[in-house]
Amino acid sequence: MAQALYTPGLGYYANDLRKLGLMPGSGSDFVTAPELSPLFGRALAAQLAQALEHTQTDEVWEFGAGSGALALQLLEALGDKVRRYTIVDLSGALRARQQQTLEKFGERVRWVSELPAHMQGVVVGNEVLDAMPVQLLARLDGVWHERGVALEPGSQRLVWQDRPTSLRPPVEIEGRHDYVSEIHPQAEAYIRTLAGRLQRGAAFFIDYGFPEAEYYHPQRHMGTVMCHRAHQADTDPLADVGLKDITAHVNFTGIALAAQEAGLGVLGYATQGRFLLNCGLPQLMEQAELPVRTQAHKLIMEHEMGELFKVIGLTVGEPWLALGFSAGDRTHTL
Ligand SMILES: C[S@@+](CC[C@H](N)C(=O)[O-])C[C@H]1O[C@@H](n2cnc3c(N)ncnc32)[C@H](O)[C@@H]1O
Repeated sequence: MAQALYTPGLGYYANDLRKLGLMPGSGSDFVTAPELSPLFGRALAAQLAQALEHTQTDEVWEFGAGSGALALQLLEALGDKVRRYTIVDLSGALRARQQQTLEKFGERVRWVSELPAHMQGVVVGNEVLDAMPVQLLARLDGVWHERGVALEPGSQRLVWQDRPTSLRPPVEIEGRHDYVSEIHPQAEAYIRTLAGRLQRGAAFFIDYGFPEAEYYHPQRHMGTVMCHRAHQADTDPLADVGLKDITAHVNFTGIALAAQEAGLGVLGYATQGRFLLNCGLPQLMEQAELPVRTQAHKLIMEHEMGELFKVIGLTVGEPWLALGFSAGDRTHTL
């Protein structure tokens, strides 16, 4: 997954394909919340404003900024509450697009390729955890294997190859049936690194995923790895490598535990729908024109992005009452 997404020049996030956009006609592969509606960033800005104020900081750090759409929305909404906006993105091609989108903010926006040793401010990442490479585990006839990729002998075709492993999912999977799933060591290591560097501030990650009891449910026996190309999803990461996005859902329990073990507190965990309602999306929708309202609806509808997408909030120091989790907090399900 790491090679398919990030190999220089060839990986999906390292090539010049368009990737993000509203419709396949634009040559894009998938749409994200900030691409769908500017009201996503405006609502999220209410949470960021509270977090900046509470933590007495004036910097925003965005991981995986895509086209720069969310940064634009946040910077416009937050105004001079943000002294500096730093983007950390692995994709050089997307960085160029972000630079175009954010040109008008001049030196307030900067790009870094590595995290500095010490950071202060509010961190945000929309659909970045799902892009972090996962490891596949397969239970076959009751024996756990790690699933890797090999070249089929005598051909150039990529095929799965399993080998026995002592790795296990974080919870026991009931039953004896064959079962494929993922573990997320990279995303969890990333959270630990972030926790180690963030001296003052908070972090909000938005993504699709579940708590571990739901993630490793015995019936979810095919795992969650999905590919996205031209607004179609498929489950074969070995085909068209580099030409499509590969993602896996987020195990939010693993994220919360990694954060806590590294010293961060959990502010809350809620569905995106709940979070955005708490952040005042309905009021923003009331003031918007019908087409904008219609698109924004998709952010909160259960059968669209409202229920599958979740938000987790983390903080340095003691947890405080964060606006986005003021009603419908589901931290107890993690
Ligand atoms: C699915 S896109 C989401 C883009 C944007 N946040 C949005 O909502 O439209 C994933 C983004 O994460 C970036 N990315 C993936 N892994 C990353 C990592 N480890 N650190 C920083 N950025 C990463 C990709 O280059 C891309 O910009």
